[in-house]
Amino acid sequence: MKALIINCSPVRSGATAEIARIAAEALAERYETRTVCIDDYHFAFCRGCRSCHATAQCVLQDDVTALMAEFAAADVILCVAPSYWADIPGQFKAFIDRCTPWCNTHEPHAAIPRGKRGYAIALRTGPGMHECERIIGSIEHFYGHLEIERSGHLGLTSVEFREMVEARRPEILAFCREI
Ligand SMILES: Cc1cc2nc3c(=O)[nH]c(=O)nc-3n(C[C@H](O)[C@H](O)[C@H](O)COP(=O)(O)O)c2cc1C
Repeated sequence: MKALIINCSPVRSGATAEIARIAAEALAERYETRTVCIDDYHFAFCRGCRSCHATAQCVLQDDVTALMAEFAAADVILCVAPSYWADIPGQFKAFIDRCTPWCNTHEPHAAIPRGKRGYAIALRTGPGMHECERIIGSIEHFYGHLEIERSGHLGLTSVEFREMVEARRPEILAFCREI
């Protein structure tokens, strides 16, 4: 079984990357794991042309297909996303917008193989859980339209820098045991 872990922050060495690293280490006991960063991929913004509603393909050709190939190859997908202005980082939102060819609200649409489980971890610096819930909602909305089963989530508040993640290791490991 394969697990894909996505650092949805453009920061490769920050708190999000550290959470992704701890999760990957834990999941490696039971899964073949692969970790990627949203910033590994270069893609343009969705133009909103809706061509894909008729063709199930995007008029733009770039790294979106490479990242979707990672989704297709995985049995389990874990998105780890920080709050940027109370929502997912723009890079990750831009990717989701470009996944419209795979969105199940129009026919024809492209599809990744069924039976995948999707998990989400949200983190933020502030103390309240509402922002984490919003981020989890964005990720799970995306999973729903790709027909990835929404299988669990974790919100981590009061996290800003990489060094602050170690204290949260027990929560992360407990969450990973359920994956
Ligand atoms: C552009 C930007 C916007 C942010 N907006 C929020 C916010 O609205 N609420 C919050 O609690 N934290 C906010 N943060 C803090 C991040 O969620 C937090 O530092 C997180 O650990 C960043 O992880 P990263 O360095 O791996 O990207 C913001 C950080 C950045 C860089």
